[in-house]
Amino acid sequence: MAKEKQLVYVDSKGKRLDGRKQNELRPIKITAGVIPRADGSAFLEWGQNKVYAAVYGPRECLPKHTASPYKAVIKFNYRMAAFSVPDRKNPRPGRREMEISKVCGDALERAIFVERFPNTQIDITVEIVDADAGSRIAALTAASVACADAGIPMRDMVSGTGVGKAGGKIIVDLDKAEEDAPDAVDVPLAILPNSKEIVLLQLDGVMTQKEWKEAYKAGVEASMEVYEIQKKALKAKFSEKGVEKK
Ligand code: CDP
Repeated sequence: MAKEKQLVYVDSKGKRLDGRKQNELRPIKITAGVIPRADGSAFLEWGQNKVYAAVYGPRECLPKHTASPYKAVIKFNYRMAAFSVPDRKNPRPGRREMEISKVCGDALERAIFVERFPNTQIDITVEIVDADAGSRIAALTAASVACADAGIPMRDMVSGTGVGKAGGKIIVDLDKAEEDAPDAVDVPLAILPNSKEIVLLQLDGVMTQKEWKEAYKAGVEASMEVYEIQKKALKAKFSEKGVEKK
């Protein structure tokens, strides 16, 4: 029987299919404050991913039985536009969107001082208008900037990246082609950059402990790069309005 040839996702020069290095992120651009009606917002382009995040609140928690007397309730809604993927996405929220909303909301709750706003809710809506893998981390990254833009007190940003394996090599920020590799492992990772606390970690695939150590290190380093871009986006918005001008 002919031996199956393993596809090459990192060539002999260390270059990936799109020319990136193993630990290189796709280009990321974030603009804060793009939706005037919202209390805070952001638009993020991460490779081909395009994401809008809008934040409202803290405001009255409705329906009332969902409120907590101890903290603000984070209501995170991750949605994919029907035209954001090659096969038309059914606009009805599916199980995947519910799961992503849950894990992203839980991650942001670690960053926000929710205990300061009992009986309220914070609505965070993220709309994916173009998706090319890594959209949950793109959503979380944009949402974190939008929360800060809304002036919501936070102990830290939430910054992250996908990390994983394709063609037997550890790589950062997998795109769709890499995520579809036969041996692909995809690990969305998000941290609080100042304490390095992990607030989101999912694993799709199998890795050895050694591979995970390498992937985790590369993932944290790349997340710190994302953090810098987030801070830059916020500074750009507020300096434009004169808040930070000296
Ligand atoms: O986007 P993320 O990597 O966080 O989540 P995923 O469930 O691993 O999805 C990976 C990618 O599959 C998405 O970013 C989309 O590009 C694609 N996808 C799709 O084409 N159609 C869907 N209904 C869902 C995802």
